[in-house]
Amino acid sequence: MWRDATQTVFGEGPEGAEVIFVGEQPCDQEDLAGKPFVGPAGKMFDAILNDAGVDRQKIYVTNAVKHFKFEPRGKRRIRSKPNAGEVQACRWWLDREIGLTKPDIFVALGATAAQSLLGKAVPVTKMRGEVIERDDGLRVFITIHPSFILRIREAADKEAERRRFLQDMKQVKRLMAV
Ligand code: URA
Repeated sequence: MWRDATQTVFGEGPEGAEVIFVGEQPCDQEDLAGKPFVGPAGKMFDAILNDAGVDRQKIYVTNAVKHFKFEPRGKRRIRSKPNAGEVQACRWWLDREIGLTKPDIFVALGATAAQSLLGKAVPVTKMRGEVIERDDGLRVFITIHPSFILRIREAADKEAERRRFLQDMKQVKRLMAV
């Protein structure tokens, strides 16, 4: 993956952040900018965090996989999902970020992040909103990936999903405070 990607996209946020949000992998714009969550999913994520009263400057944001995986299609680069081996290969990176940041809580944004943080496949839609405690005591809040909201076409459904995700982020804010 690193061969085709423009660069490694490291996590971003202050040392000692109380919470680490973990996405899947950088996409097209993140690959070019070298920063996580700056493209369309990132903009939606920022807006919802803002509505929930969570300051992005105070959180650490990263991805389970640190390089953009894609299929070229003409001039476009179409994102393809990292497999379990690729997630596993990037685990040491996430572990180092955890060791340096020492957060109180993690947020797994979607199935790839949940798999990376918990070491097993997790049914995200079923377990959404739950906090799972790892063997080392770290708490992992499970929710969807914000790009899921972007893919919904019907306006009312999109708005309903946005509201649900906002509720999830408000729950994260409450968890940060305990
Ligand atoms: N999707 C992700 O999971 N991570 C990013 O950084 C951007 C989009």
